[in-house]
Amino acid sequence: MEIVVQQGNIVQQEADLLVVNLFEGVTEPGGATGAVDKALNGAIREVIAAGDFTGKRDSSVVLYTRGVIPAPRVLVVGLGPAEKFTLNEARRAAGVAAKRARELGVKHIASIVHGGGVGGLSVDDAAQAVVEGTILALYRFRKHVPEPEEDEDPERMTLVEFDATKVPVVEEGATRGRVIAEAVCFARDLVNEPANYMTPMMMAHRAREMAQTVGLQCTVLEEAHMRDLGMGLLLGVAAGSDEPPRFIILEHRSGRTDLPTIVLVGKGITFDSGGISLKRSEDMWRMKGDMGGAAAVLGAMQAVARLDLPLRVIGLAPCTENLPSGHAIKPGDVLTGMGGKTVEIISTDAEGRLILADALTYADRYRPDAVVDLATLTGAIGVALGKQAAGLFSNDDGLADRLLRATERSGERAWRMPLYDEYKEAIKSDVAEVKNSGGRYAGVGSSAKFLEHFTTGYPWAHLDIAAMTMSDEETPLGPKGATGYGVRLLTEFLRDWARG
Ligand code: BES
Ligand code: MN
Ligand code: ZN
Repeated sequence: MEIVVQQGNIVQQEADLLVVNLFEGVTEPGGATGAVDKALNGAIREVIAAGDFTGKRDSSVVLYTRGVIPAPRVLVVGLGPAEKFTLNEARRAAGVAAKRARELGVKHIASIVHGGGVGGLSVDDAAQAVVEGTILALYRFRKHVPEPEEDEDPERMTLVEFDATKVPVVEEGATRGRVIAEAVCFARDLVNEPANYMTPMMMAHRAREMAQTVGLQCTVLEEAHMRDLGMGLLLGVAAGSDEPPRFIILEHRSGRTDLPTIVLVGKGITFDSGGISLKRSEDMWRMKGDMGGAAAVLGAMQAVARLDLPLRVIGLAPCTENLPSGHAIKPGDVLTGMGGKTVEIISTDAEGRLILADALTYADRYRPDAVVDLATLTGAIGVALGKQAAGLFSNDDGLADRLLRATERSGERAWRMPLYDEYKEAIKSDVAEVKNSGGRYAGVGSSAKFLEHFTTGYPWAHLDIAAMTMSDEETPLGPKGATGYGVRLLTEFLRDWARG
């Protein structure tokens, strides 16, 4: 989709559809919406007075202009209550408008920048949110559907800004929004792709292709290299599969050790059957999404490169399948990780923490100022928080606060959970240093504690995104399936860090 920014009066704009907005409960619209209403002789006030449109979030109404202004249609989108307005509401409103435009078969949308200047929101952030919402809403994954009969996408969006002095910042925000949204779509594609296509080798292939396009350094470790490094935990999980594992390393400004160094780590289980501790079959298909953490890291790295953030950022993605076979690891086995730490396997279905442990050990070589891992780690996090937020664990309050700040800007929520020392008790082993499962109680706490055991003193945060990676429902920001959760959050976190 082509996106252009233009100075002008939205009333005079030529397009197939004009998009303006309304806060919930407003009966006398002002600003651009008021101007359109006036040009239409009060048509917007009329639908409001009739009670047919109240400005509720996610709602919208189409009006026909009958030749009074150049555009044949106007869409008014609801922004919800003014006092609850955030950047994410602007993102959502843009998504609602984009989907509605697609249903209407509209080719050219002209929209105002929802929320610019409202409650202290800057115009560039609002423009970014509107572009993100538009691109994310229109995303589809139809690769394996031969000739789908579907509505065609809008081809062009013009963002109309009345104030000429603001046009350059709107442009800046719009460009950033496109970069971030495209990175999210890249991550969604990786997650939506079935596991017979998205093997560890394919993950590495996609990472390498992307790295070449955006100018990242990409290294892919194969089994022999993992063996030399002593990555016995990653290799242990991979032992049950015929697909060879891959350890993907993406580097942005890798030589610049003078810059703050941040390492991102993503769980890349391309399919999690549970291994010998086999999962029940009903919804095992969902486990094609068990590489959602790795996908988010790859997506964020794409955005970091394209935004050329002044940071040294390293993305690590250990990738393997988790399958049962005659070569698979078994409950009771003892494995040795990269740093020499020994692990007793209680459940082969607690595989994510094993591959992350080797990656967290590997991260140490960069002398990082922060390490953030993302992983679809436990079903229990969904029981605790639902699909409303990821679980955030951190050994560093400053780092946790930075991430929480980024959740607000990105609209990708996370909620901080404790890392109590007592959780360590649950993962004490009689035969090794630690065991990989602490049982049902505090399943999320002990999983995070297991990961912490493999950090090497650097500030570290862990996001359990198990309930966030895939959506069972269509939302204003996308269809069912992969959400790309984490790309926006990580990118805002890094942008914030880069600002100092
Ligand atoms: N990949 C799963 C977690 C998961 C569950 C992700 C549901 C997305 C949706 C993970 O590897 C796993 O199997 N975790 C176990 C841990 C247990 C064996 C300690 C779980 O949550 O049951
Ligand atoms: Mn598992
Ligand atoms: Zn898993």
